Amino acid sequence: MDKIRFGTSDLQVAPVILGCMRMNGAENPAEIIETAYDHGIDFFDHADIYGGGECETIFGKALKETSIKREDIILQTKCGIRKGMFDFSKEHIISSVEESLKRLGVDYVDALLLHRPDTLVEPEEVAAAFDQLEAQGKVKYFGVSNQKPMQIDLLKKTVKQPLVANQLQFGIKHTGMIDQGIHVNMTDEASIDRDGSILDYSRLNDMTIQAWSPYQYGFFEGVFIGNEKFADLNEILDRIAAHHNITATGLATAWILRHPAKMQVIAGTMNKERIKEIAKASEIKLSREEWYEIYRAAGNILP
Ligand SMILES: NC(=O)c1ccc[n+]([C@@H]2O[C@H](COP(=O)([O-])OP(=O)(O)OC[C@H]3O[C@@H](n4cnc5c(N)ncnc54)[C@H](OP(=O)(O)O)[C@@H]3O)[C@@H](O)[C@H]2O)c1
Repeated sequence: MDKIRFGTSDLQVAPVILGCMRMNGAENPAEIIETAYDHGIDFFDHADIYGGGECETIFGKALKETSIKREDIILQTKCGIRKGMFDFSKEHIISSVEESLKRLGVDYVDALLLHRPDTLVEPEEVAAAFDQLEAQGKVKYFGVSNQKPMQIDLLKKTVKQPLVANQLQFGIKHTGMIDQGIHVNMTDEASIDRDGSILDYSRLNDMTIQAWSPYQYGFFEGVFIGNEKFADLNEILDRIAAHHNITATGLATAWILRHPAKMQVIAGTMNKERIKEIAKASEIKLSREEWYEIYRAAGNILP
């Protein structure tokens, strides 16, 4: 699997990440980790809150059942979401990471992302937490999730580490960050800029977008692949997928990877066959015609 640059860092990473939010539902987590790793997916995404912490614990235990060495994988976790609030205080960031490390059974995570914006954020607190975690060797790279440009710039004013990644929902059925760029200066629904031109900002600043829930529509409403609600889209996906000798799931992955913003796809499947389909997709490069045909088939109208 061809690697991509992780933000402005020197680190080269796989374009496909295995998201571990659903690992507490996996039948055999060690086999899932091994399948991903054997197919080039050596980057694993976590959060302190997944399964109430259970997902990190299951992963940590399962990793030790495999022959994969800790230093051969990239481990990322997130913090900042608490019950009934968001919390980017120094105290919470540090204690959350320390708990994640214990659950994962490791000494450091490669990357830490701030999960969802905290309006009570005090950037000096974030900076102090990042400095301490970096100095202690507990976190190597830092980033954010679900943040827009001005929020990132506010952090950057004080935080000295480069913010290398931003995790955002993106996939064939969730394309707001693209729509508003295509519909500039129009008055239709698609022209509404809901995220401060985050796609352009990410490209201008070399921040890696990590596309979460890539196969879902809405906010966890369901999967669009094979879903009769989206029959026209699926017909086109199946035809183009057959042409490339991949599955529709693989194609939905290749569609994200085709974008020159060089995003990472975070796949949340706990199914070994799907992991292989998704890994295979990283070798496929869609044509411009195919990319736009899929975009239109998803219900998007070009001005
Ligand atoms: N930063 C954030 O706010 C945020 C929010 C949500 C998620 N995330 C990250 O993104 C990752 C992925 O999220 P997600 O699990 O919602 O995304 P997803 O990969 O779009 O969805 C995976 C789910 O869809 C099911 N599925 C059914 N048919 C499928 C098909 N044909 N292809 C692929 N999956 C199919 C999978 O079941 P099977 O297991 O049976 O295949 C699994 O339950 C998470 O693990 C987490 O790391 C981040």
